[in-house]
Amino acid sequence: MAVDLLLGLQWGDEGKGKIVDVLTQNYDIIARFQGGPNAGHTLIFDGFKHVLHTIPSGIFHKTAMNVVGNGVVIDPVIFKKELENLDKHNIDYTSKLLISRKAHLILPTHRLLDAASETSKGKAKIGSTLKGIGPTYMDKTGRNGMRVGDLELDNWKEKYDALTAKHISMLNYFDVQVDYNLKELEAEFCKGIDKLRTLEFIDSEEYFSNAMKNGKTILAEGAQGSLLDIDFGTYPFVTSSNTTAAGACTGLGVAPNRIGEVYGIFKAYTTRVGSGPFPTELFDEVGETMGRVGNEFGATTGRKRRCGWLDLIALKYAVEINGVTQLMMMKGDVLSGFETLKIATSYNYKGKEIKHLPYNIEPENVTVNYTEFKGWKADLTEMTSAESLPKNLIAYINFIEKETGVPVKIVSVGPDRKQTIMR
Ligand code: GDP
Ligand code: IMO
Ligand code: MG
Repeated sequence: MAVDLLLGLQWGDEGKGKIVDVLTQNYDIIARFQGGPNAGHTLIFDGFKHVLHTIPSGIFHKTAMNVVGNGVVIDPVIFKKELENLDKHNIDYTSKLLISRKAHLILPTHRLLDAASETSKGKAKIGSTLKGIGPTYMDKTGRNGMRVGDLELDNWKEKYDALTAKHISMLNYFDVQVDYNLKELEAEFCKGIDKLRTLEFIDSEEYFSNAMKNGKTILAEGAQGSLLDIDFGTYPFVTSSNTTAAGACTGLGVAPNRIGEVYGIFKAYTTRVGSGPFPTELFDEVGETMGRVGNEFGATTGRKRRCGWLDLIALKYAVEINGVTQLMMMKGDVLSGFETLKIATSYNYKGKEIKHLPYNIEPENVTVNYTEFKGWKADLTEMTSAESLPKNLIAYINFIEKETGVPVKIVSVGPDRKQTIMR
């Protein structure tokens, strides 16, 4: 069997967690392949809201296996909290959650380095979630990192101590004050490690290879979004991993010719949290309304998300680099009540009108041209069938399908698992 992918096509928070949860009924295995606790994936069902950071969003289903792949970076402290949240809901995860030995560990000092790096950047800061993501991936590519499999070695603590000592000396490089109590941080880290050890560590590439041979269905769950990709995003205002389809191959050990469907998920408008260019950003009442109605606050940091119109130029770019085969449109319900809706269809760039994403999309480099659409008044949140959707919303969706050349197969009309319309 092939591995299907579900990827965010914008700047993250598209609703990946919700849809992975919905789709899990069709899959035997759900796997995270990159990112770490910078992600916040929200699932709402049976009157409860769950936010997952590292654990795949299939964990609430009875039989699906959930794998944290080699491309993920794990903070044992945050992971422990996530597991404890599952304990509160009596979710039996020990038999359903597997961890790749090759996944890298976020050390407490990675978080300190992240904080020091951001503070030292001043106004140019990335707006990182400060979870230590950048420094951990730097140690990975610098070939200094610690992996989950190292915890099975007798000398893991020596490795930890050596890397921590190096980080402490690196902190001195930054001309900023970072307060910390290493003893406390280490005690917390060790408790996290103890909890992590209650789970099974696996050679995940072999696990996936066998699963495919045995006809198991696998869904890879992306974190962040294509515009935060380290190569293809709005660099340097990006995260430190490949959030795009190729990241699933390296983050799980799955060959490109084993990829099946690529589900691309996007909001009916656009949001971004943290710094960086955002051509369709709204600074007026319309943007405020989107944020309020859409409850646009970060699931990991609680920060207010910036809001703006749908950017079709960026969406087409993401569809292309990921090879998206099916689209899913989220949060259409948030747009109910607007008289007129806008979709960005071209940019003015260096004196020309262009329809592709250029190297620079800062406000001094691009201005945006929009196509307008008639809005709809109806409340979508109670709707259950594609036939009941307002005709102006259908026109909005048809336009996106025509421009991207990809069908919109799911329309999400509210945060709950049930508020999902298949087309
Ligand atoms: P993820 O990181 O891609 O999993 O997305 P987040 O969980 O960070 O952010 C998506 C937010 O939108 C969450 O608060 C969801 O509960 C909510 N949500 C998801 N789909 C819909 C929808 O169709 N309508 C509304 N109103 N909210 C939604
Ligand atoms: P999910 O999976 C939205 C953003 C941060 C910051 C930049 C770099 O929930 O969609 P990092 O902590 O990686 O150094 O931050 O990336 N960012 C996200 N924005 N959703 C996410 O994940 C994000 N993960 C990171 O806000 O701008
Ligand atoms: Mg999120």
